[in-house]
Order: sequence, then C-alpha cells, then structure tokens
Amino acid sequence: MSIINRATPVSSSLVGRFLDVRGLTDTLTAHLSAEDQTPQSMTEASPAKWHRAHVTWFFEEFILRNDPTYVVYDETYRYLFNSYYEAVGPRHPRPERGLVTRPGVADIGHYREYVDNAMIGLLERGALDDASIALVELGCNHEQQHQELLLMDIKHLFSTHAFDPVYVDREIDEAGEIPPLTWRPITGGVTEIGVPDGASTFSYDNEGPRHRVYLEDFEIADRAVTNAEWRAFMGDDGYRRPELWLSDGWAHIQQTGWRAPGYWREADGEWTTFTLSGRRRVVPDEPVVHVSFYEADAYARWAGARLPTEFEWEAAALTGGSARGQLLDTTRCHPGRAGTTMIGDVWEWTSSAYLPYPGFVPANGAVGEYNGKFMCDQHVLRGASAITPPGHERATYRNFFPAPARWVFSGLRLAR
Ligand code: AVJ
Ligand code: FE
Repeated sequence: MSIINRATPVSSSLVGRFLDVRGLTDTLTAHLSAEDQTPQSMTEASPAKWHRAHVTWFFEEFILRNDPTYVVYDETYRYLFNSYYEAVGPRHPRPERGLVTRPGVADIGHYREYVDNAMIGLLERGALDDASIALVELGCNHEQQHQELLLMDIKHLFSTHAFDPVYVDREIDEAGEIPPLTWRPITGGVTEIGVPDGASTFSYDNEGPRHRVYLEDFEIADRAVTNAEWRAFMGDDGYRRPELWLSDGWAHIQQTGWRAPGYWREADGEWTTFTLSGRRRVVPDEPVVHVSFYEADAYARWAGARLPTEFEWEAAALTGGSARGQLLDTTRCHPGRAGTTMIGDVWEWTSSAYLPYPGFVPANGAVGEYNGKFMCDQHVLRGASAITPPGHERATYRNFFPAPARWVFSGLRLAR
C-alpha cells in the first residue's frame, strides 16, 4: 500500500511531472506477468523487471542518497541495478540480467513505491537546489528513454515465441496510398547546430555546445522510406549485391543471413512482420522499421541517394514544421502511415558517427558517464519513434546505436 494518497493535488509541476513519468512505466508494464518481465532475450536487451528497477535506482542513487535522512531501500540493489556507472562501483554482469530471479516483480513494485514516496516527500518540501532539480529532470528523461527500451526489448522477447504473443491488441491496418516522395531543397552555408547554452528546456549534455557547421546545398526526402520501397530493394536483389554494401555490412549479412528487415518473414509469397500486436501483414505505406545502419546505407546507395548527416537532418528538421509522426500511443505501439513529418514513426539513421560536439564537456560526477563515454563506433539516429513517449522528442535529440542494431525502431530518410 502506498502511504501517499495519489489523489492529493500535486503541489508543484515537478512532482506532477515525476508522477506522470513514473505512472507511464506502470501503465506499460501493468499487464506483463512476472514471467514476461524476467527473461533477457539477448545481451543488448534487458528484462522489463530490470528496466523498472534500474530507473528507480537512478533516482535513489543520484538524488535520494544526497539526503542524509533518506534510508536506502536495499543496499544490494546498487549492485543489481547499476547499468554502467563505474564511479558508482561494481555491478551485475549485463549479459546475465535475465538470471536475476530475486528480487521478484512484486518486490520491485514495492521498491518503486518506496522511492516514489521518498521523492514526493523531497519534492514537496521544496528544498532542492537547482543542481538537484536538474537531476530530477534527468531522472525523468532517463525513465522515458527506458520506457522506449522496455518496449523494444519486450518486442524482441515476444518475437522469439512460437505463437506470437500480443502486447497490445488493436485493429489491422489497411493498406493506403503510398505518398509520392518529393525532395525538399535546403540551402547550405554556415549553420548553427545543437542546444544553446542556458536553454530553458531539458536536453542531454551531448546535444551541446551549440556550434557552427558548414553545409553544402542538399536535398532531403519529405518522408521516410516505406515498406513498399524496401520490397522493391529486396526484389532488385538488394541483399545479394555486394557493390551496394559497406564491407562490414556485407560481412554482417553473410554471417547473419539477413535478407529482409528485422521481424519480417515470408510465407507463400506474403510478407509478415512481428509487431507489438502480434504477427501482421507488412503494410506497404508505413515507414520501414527495424533496419540496421548497414541496411539503411545499402538501400540509400541502391536508390541513388545517401543518408543525411546528423547536421543536415537537424537543419531540415528546424525548417520542416512542427507536425509529428506517430509517437508512443499505448493503444498502438507501431508506426503510422508514412507522412511528411521529420519527427516520429521511426528513428532515422544518419551517416554521422556519434562524436562529441566541439567543446563538449560531460556533466560532473557519475552522471557524466551517461552519454560521453559511448562516443566510439556508434551512429547517430535522429527524430523519434512510435514508442518514444510524447514530449521526449525534439529536433536536437541525438540517439545512438552501433551499426548492426536493428531491434531499435529504426528506419531511414534519403538525402542527396
Ligand atoms: C541512447 C538509447 C543508446 O540505451 O543506453 C539509458 C539510453 N542512457 N540509460 C542506452 C540510456 C542511460 C541509451 N541510448
Ligand atoms: Fe539507464
């Protein structure tokens, strides 16, 4: 039982924000059983139960532990639910997260409630300095990132089941018209990229400093690449022509046998894909999703185009209007029809290596490990996906994954 009456009017917007974020995680996992929440289907993915505990530990470790009156819930949780913070200390090996049967899901529910109550107390006392308030905002954004990761990971886990479990039941999408691709010309020149110092809204440290880049004139597609277009690439032997592929990509598809996007399967000439609503017919006018950087790059070459750089992408997004594609809707959890938006439906691979902007300095302390130490051998993805919580998306956001990753809701947009 919660000792806090959640019907009490929230006294400040930060408490309200905190409870909204925490509540969405609970909504996303309420109908997952203990068995659903326990296994880890691959090293890169984590059990749903682990996500629920890890985001809770983040608030405990970086905010509550600074309060001398706070009593830590369970000292072993620091070891079990620290993801990668060397400054915090040793931790459970990532590939073995699925073996942690204790604490169970009920215990983790109690842990969440305990930390929620302590956080509400702290926030309602109104005694936090600006640095701590910034950490609460970071913790909320962190939990939003993990809401997306949790859905990616549960999709991957469910996809391994022989009988296609359904996470969210919904109607079948009928095929619609495939909107013609049009090219939007963008004038280059010296362009400001990134979040200005002292901006009033939240951003991660890796989105700054704001700096200038030089862009040549370029053109960018007004929508993402669709499933129908991807079928044309497959039909033209796209996966069998080495001249279309980077060497690493070609080696990877030989080794894995990939001949279609992640979750696709063919039976009797018909392609289906696994979705969070079970196995569904591939809908031609939806953006293609679950392609790796290697596949996105090969497709672009086949199409006589290329991937945009992250800087081109940002410049295009800032002139592309504020309309959004599909963001997380808990009754859907799947991209909508391809539309002329920059942000939403699928994350878009860029050709840019994930590197620090000039003058980048990671945040002080353990949270400085959040983004900066991963700036090696990864690519930037821009936009947001159909499982990104609304409000978490923005034009300067830099998501990042290694080139072979495709359990992400990742697609692409062409440039030339
Ligand atoms: C930006 C999605 C690659 O998955 O580790 C979660 C997000 N950072 N907790 C990741 C993140 C800290 C990060 N990605
Ligand atoms: Fe995390």
